[in-house]
Amino acid sequence: MSENILIELKGLTKRYGYGDTESFALKDFDLSVKRGEFIMIMGPSGCGKTTLLDIIGLLDRATQGEYYLNGENVAGISARRQAKLRAKKIGFIFQNFNLIDDLPIIENVSLPLVYSGYTKTSRLKKASTALKRFHLEEREYYLPYQLSGGQQQRVAIARAIVGDPEIILADEPTGNLDSRSSHIVMEELKAIHEEGNTIIMVTHNPALTVYATRVINMLDGQIDTDVKTVSDANLPQPISVRIKKKDNEFASLTENDTKPSKKHKKSRRKK
Ligand SMILES: Nc1ncnc2c1ncn2[C@@H]1O[C@H](COP(=O)(O)OP(=O)(O)O)[C@@H](O)[C@H]1O
Ligand SMILES: [Mg+2]
Repeated sequence: MSENILIELKGLTKRYGYGDTESFALKDFDLSVKRGEFIMIMGPSGCGKTTLLDIIGLLDRATQGEYYLNGENVAGISARRQAKLRAKKIGFIFQNFNLIDDLPIIENVSLPLVYSGYTKTSRLKKASTALKRFHLEEREYYLPYQLSGGQQQRVAIARAIVGDPEIILADEPTGNLDSRSSHIVMEELKAIHEEGNTIIMVTHNPALTVYATRVINMLDGQIDTDVKTVSDANLPQPISVRIKKKDNEFASLTENDTKPSKKHKKSRRKK
């Protein structure tokens, strides 16, 4: 398997019910995702989009089939290992933000780091840095309800990227937002993608596909159409790879994992 392949799904099937009540949310689904792709998934309600994201995100399991994440077959692993992998490798963004109501946003953002072995202080530091990127540094101790929908979704994006995941999954992230907030959220996702991150996003809004490098239309649990709008050779590379290639003065910044903010600061300077 090419080292550039992040996700490989083979013959993935998700069945609900048996006999008369049997139905398939996914049917013999194959998909291969390269690092740096920004895939948008579209299709009518009920065609299996959320099921697909939940399985990729290790929130759910297929009834049948293989799922390789970084070459490792993760379809049959224990729930505990699933949870660990999920925390380390996957960032989620949901339509309704899914923030915890009674936790200040800085603590919401720090949650994915609980499995990481960082101390609470360094978790909060990392969360604070992530919030700064989204210009929410003055609201760290606000509760989610004190923010607008667009701000809450930016908190959710900060939470999704705080642990430097391999892949970011977004299920209709702009579905509850007005067009101005949608635009801001999409620009943030675009910037995250340009840093070399891999994103899979479900949307109902065809206008948003301009941000994608690949658009997949699903129908009845299967792929109907699959169109790449950017060739694999032109996908953005992770910043760490770019730095290695250039061997330049930023090289030391990626070495120290306790200072992830450099990556984010660097991208802000670019703007
Ligand atoms: N827990 C469940 N039990 C039974 N059927 C389900 C369950 N979850 C999803 N489904 C069915 O699976 C299909 C795909 O659902 P979903 O992945 O949510 O679609 P989408 O996100 O594209 O709207 C739908 O027909 C839905 O009714
Ligand atoms: Mg859905």
